[in-house]
Order: sequence, then C-alpha cells, then structure tokens
Amino acid sequence: MNQFTVNEKGYYGEFGGAYVPEILHKCVEDLQQAYLDIMESDSFQQEFQALLRDYVGRPSPLYLSKQLSERHGCKIYLKREDLNHTGAHKINNAIGQVLIARRMGKTRIIAETGAGQHGVATATVCALMQMPCTVYMGKTDVERQFPNVKKMEMLGATVVPVTSGNMTLKDATNEAIRDWCSHPEDTHYVIGSTIGPHPYPDMVARLQSVISKEIKKQLTEKEERDFPDYLFACVGGGSNAAGTIYEYLDNENVKIVLAEAGGKGIDSGYSAATIQLGKIGVLHGCKTLIMQTEDGQIVEPYSVSAGLDYPGIGPIHAHLAKQQRARVLAITDDEALKAAFNLTRNEGIIPALESAHALAALDKVEFSSSDIVVLTLSGRGDKDMDTYLKYMD
Ligand SMILES: Cc1ncc(COP(=O)(O)O)c(C=O)c1O
Repeated sequence: MNQFTVNEKGYYGEFGGAYVPEILHKCVEDLQQAYLDIMESDSFQQEFQALLRDYVGRPSPLYLSKQLSERHGCKIYLKREDLNHTGAHKINNAIGQVLIARRMGKTRIIAETGAGQHGVATATVCALMQMPCTVYMGKTDVERQFPNVKKMEMLGATVVPVTSGNMTLKDATNEAIRDWCSHPEDTHYVIGSTIGPHPYPDMVARLQSVISKEIKKQLTEKEERDFPDYLFACVGGGSNAAGTIYEYLDNENVKIVLAEAGGKGIDSGYSAATIQLGKIGVLHGCKTLIMQTEDGQIVEPYSVSAGLDYPGIGPIHAHLAKQQRARVLAITDDEALKAAFNLTRNEGIIPALESAHALAALDKVEFSSSDIVVLTLSGRGDKDMDTYLKYMD
C-alpha cells in the first residue's frame, strides 16, 4: 500500500467511496468483504493466470517501435494489449470479475460498454463460462461501433441500446445500474473501468495490474532495469492507465503521462477532458472529478472515441492528477486521428482510437536521448474502421 493506492474506506485522498442506493448496499458490501480474499486465494490465482496465459495470450509483447523512437529521439516501447484475445485490455478485467462473481454464487452478468470492447470481452467470458449476459450500450455507440454489437450478439449476449441522454457510455452505465437494482441477489455488474463504488476501482486496477507486472519483467530482459522513464496511457474511466502504472506508483523515477479526450478542443464545449474541466461530485457510485454545470448537472461529454466519451474519471486518476503524480494532457480528435494514421502507415499497426490519444500525447513531451518510454496500446482499431474511413475521404 502507498499514498496512491486505496485506503480501507475505499478512498484515494478525497476521491472514491461507495455512494449507492439502499437496495445495492448489501451486494456492494458483500463484494467489499469478499474481493481481496478471493483475488489473493491460490485457486483464483491459478485459474486467472492460466486463462490470461492460454486464453488471452499473455504476456502481451513489449515492442520497440523503431519509427516512434526515431521520431521522438528516444526509445519508445509499445505494450501490445491490442494483441490480446478480443483486441483490447478489457478482457483481463472481464475474466477476473466473472471468476469472482462465480465464486460469490452469482448466476447472471450485466455490463455497460462504450466502444464495445468491454461488452465483447464480457460476452466472450460469459460464453466461455456459460453465464447469461446482458450488455447496455448507448444508441450512438451502437451505431458507431456496430461490428462489436454483432460480435456480442453472436457470442450469445443480449445487447440493450440505451436512448437516454446523448446515448453514450454514461447513459449505458445508468441503465446497467438500474438493472442491478432490480436483480441485486443473483446478478454481478461487471464494471469495465476503474470507476463505480468501492471496491470496483481497486478491483479493476488490481486485475489490470498484470500489464505493469509484465512491463517490469520485459524491461528487465530488454533494458536491464525494470522501470521506464515515462509511462503513457489514454484515460477514459482509467483501467488501462491504472494497469500500466500500478506497479510504478511509488517509483518517483517514472513519470506518468495520461491522455484524455480533448474532443474538438477543451474550450469548445465538445470534449471529454474530465480531469482538466471536471469538478468534484458523485457519479455512478463514487466521488470524483465530473464535468458538470454550476448547479451540478452533468455536462454531456463528447469525443470521436467512444471509449473515452465519459464525463467522469476513475478516482485513482483524479487523485494522481491532484497530487501532480500524473501529468494529464487533453488530445483533440484531429491529433488522435493523425497519430493513428502515423502508426498505421509507418509501423503497420492500426490502433484503437482510444490508444491513438496516448500516441498523440508523445508529440507534447520533450524527451532526452537516454529516455525509455513505455506506451500502452490499449486496443486494436478494427472497431474504428468506419471513423477512420470517413477521415480518409
Ligand atoms: C481500446 C480501448 N482503450 C481504452 C479505453 C478506455 O477505457 P479505460 O480508460 O478504462 O482503459 C477503451 C474503452 O472502451 C477501449 O476500448
């Protein structure tokens, strides 16, 4: 435990906690009581590690990008979560949570999804473990991430398009919470990011920490030291970023750079730059930074990238930003799209639009020639082909 990990009350500094309706108290409390014992048990670890290795294909490679290294004048490694089964980091968390849910006697799984990656990951694990699965997805996202909707249906999940608000991730999360309130006994809600009431942010960060555990090992083999000078990751709710930095939180040699969605520019009224624009409030069960009006109404977020289109942020990242442990950069749609095409044309890797925000952030930092940088490529771009094709026209 260190000053950046969760305390026993579920807080990171002033952020976090568990603010849930009365009807959910018992199941959130049951989860708080159970999650660490389950996750630290040998039987869980054996099953989880075996699936990460043989089903997901871990460890994911740490790839030295020649092109990015030359361009930025230092060594840049990509942590290839895009090569995981189902195409993103989300599967690490989905496997872990469904295993925990099974051990707690839950028989039904629900999830929210933005880009569809978490929905596909959860539907995949439910097919593997033969559990019924319902995924809530905003109608806007159903349209812009259509291939993922069809994948979830093929996997046997029920996809419910949500038509409230601006029909994106926040609205899907509201609907999933409503479902959970109606079925608290038998249902586990697999939250896809480091958001929600305690213990979700901590549980998801721990499940994703496999990313930084592998980086340590892989850097030791390649560079004979286990830490980089910089870690880069994009932040929606914050799970790939939390997994990337988890093992390095108290290593002051490692600088953390997080890329959030600047949309059409942070002053344009069309962005999801929550850390830059947010004020403290409660959303989806935790106290964190939220994009809101003077009188506390949620400001509808906007990003070209469905997975970053969220008005809140994981409490761990709100805390890291406030403590200046992490530097947070807002990346515009255009900057992300350019970075995605640059990686595609020069490295032969089509990144997810979310990950492209982290790539674009490289342009905003001055490196020295001895610097070693690790950037987590959180997912692959297959789901974003429609957006990329429109940009090419
Ligand atoms: C590929 C990819 N990267 C990043 C994200 C953002 O989520 P998080 O901040 O939890 O990693 C998403 C969300 O859907 C995603 O699909």
